[in-house]
Amino acid sequence: MKHTHYIRQSYLFCVYRNYMYDFQKYFYGKNVLEFGPNKGALFEKYYPISNKYTLVEPNKHFEKNYIKLQKRHSNLYYEFNDFEAFNANETFDTIVMMAVISHIKLDSQKIYSKIDSLLNKDGFLIIETNNTKRNLDVLAICDRNLEKVESKTSYNGIMKWLKIDYRDVLVYRKV
Ligand SMILES: C[S@@+](CC[C@H](N)C(=O)[O-])C[C@H]1O[C@@H](n2cnc3c(N)ncnc32)[C@H](O)[C@@H]1O
Repeated sequence: MKHTHYIRQSYLFCVYRNYMYDFQKYFYGKNVLEFGPNKGALFEKYYPISNKYTLVEPNKHFEKNYIKLQKRHSNLYYEFNDFEAFNANETFDTIVMMAVISHIKLDSQKIYSKIDSLLNKDGFLIIETNNTKRNLDVLAICDRNLEKVESKTSYNGIMKWLKIDYRDVLVYRKV
């Protein structure tokens, strides 16, 4: 799989992706699963407070990034797989899917059902919308079945002012 430079995980972009600031409660002591983490930089500050953090990413190019991260965080695990084929013999307290649902080749109901099967009761889903409409129905299904805890724009500060990205980050709780 070809790798392209991913500017949204550069230091400056991470600083301005505003959900970075106050999401501790969704990670503290939790068993976390993140799909499509790319380099894994976005949520690194939450790795130390999580109980266990698993990255599931189809692009093997990022292995060198994950090996480096594992040297700093012994509770970090990774698997090269896509959402569609991923299977686990455990369930999770928090599932993270940032800008990833548009890449998944399943219909929205199947995507939701798989998230539901992996998520513990009272668990959290942190999900970012796409800039495309693909699979956005997943969010409508989440609205009907989960409790929406937070909704915020993806960027703050100068990034928001520049209007370069219109995504939102949503947090749901499984009731
Ligand atoms: C737009 S990037 C988002 C990266 C990161 N989550 C972020 O917000 O900075 C999409 C990521 O999803 C991964 N991806 C693509 N197809 C996927 C699939 N079917 N299942 C899981 N991840 C996938 C890509 O390799 C990439 O890392």
